[in-house]
Amino acid sequence: MNASPIGMLDSGVGGLSVLREVRTLLPHENVIYVADQAHMPYGPRSREELRGFVQQIAHYLRDRGCKMLVIPCNAANAAALHYLRDIFRDWLIVGMEPAIKPAAEHTHSGVVGVITTKATFQGELFASVMDRFAKGVKVETQVCPDFVTLVEAGIPDTPSTRDIVARYLAPLKQAGIDQLVIGCTHFPFLEAYLKEYLGAEVDIVDPAPAVARQVKRVLDSHHLLNPSATEGTTEYLTTGDPDNFTRLIRQLISDQTPAQALHLDAFEL
Ligand code: DGL
Repeated sequence: MNASPIGMLDSGVGGLSVLREVRTLLPHENVIYVADQAHMPYGPRSREELRGFVQQIAHYLRDRGCKMLVIPCNAANAAALHYLRDIFRDWLIVGMEPAIKPAAEHTHSGVVGVITTKATFQGELFASVMDRFAKGVKVETQVCPDFVTLVEAGIPDTPSTRDIVARYLAPLKQAGIDQLVIGCTHFPFLEAYLKEYLGAEVDIVDPAPAVARQVKRVLDSHHLLNPSATEGTTEYLTTGDPDNFTRLIRQLISDQTPAQALHLDAFEL
C-alpha cells in the first residue's frame, strides 16, 4: 500500500502548482495526475455538473489503487469535497480552501483580496472560510475566469496578458489590499504578472505549500509514506489533448514526462 500512488485531479494544468510542491516535499511518492481538460474550465459550471466529473475521476483513481486523493482544484473542492468524502468514506482525501486565514493574520491595511473562479465563491466552503477567518478584515473578491484561459494557453508574454491582469486586479489595488489570496490553482503560474502589477507591498498567498505539508502529515499519520529510496514517478493523464498537455507540463513545471490520453466512460450520477 505504501508504494501505491497518490491520485490528484484538476480541470487542467492548475493542479501542477500543487503537484510541484508535493514532488519537492515527498520526492519518493508516485503520483497519478488527471487533468480533465475535456471539461475545462470548471469555474463557470454548476455544482451538479462538477460533482459528476469529479466523482468519475475519483472512481478511476480509486480503481487504480491510489492510497490517497488530493484535489488541487478550488472549484472541485467547493462543489464536491464533502460529497466525495461521503461516498469514499474509507479513503484519505486532502482538499483545499482559499487561504483567508493567513492573509487575515498578516494584513496591515485590513483589506485582503481573493481571486478565484465563480464556482469557488458560490460554494458553502467559501462561505464557511469567510465565517471562520475573515472577522475584522475587509475581504474584496474578484472572479478571474480569463486567468484560467491564459494559463491553459501557455501564458503568452504579450501586452494583452498584462492588460487582462491589470483589468481584474485594478479594483483590488484601488481597495487597498496588502494580501492577495490565490483561490485557484491555475493562478500561481501568473505570479510574475500579479507581482508586476501589484508591486512588492502586496503579499501573494498561495496555499500550495500548505497543501503539500498536509498531504505529508496525513500520509505519515496513517503510516502510508513510501519508504522507497528511489525517486517517485508521475503519470500524467488528460481527458483532452495529450500533446498539448505535455507541452504545458514542460513549460510550467519543467517535467519531461509525456502525458497520456484518458478516456472515461460516460458516468451516471
Ligand atoms: N484550477 C481550478 C481551481 O483551482 C479550476 C479552474 C477552472 O477550471 O476554472 O479552481
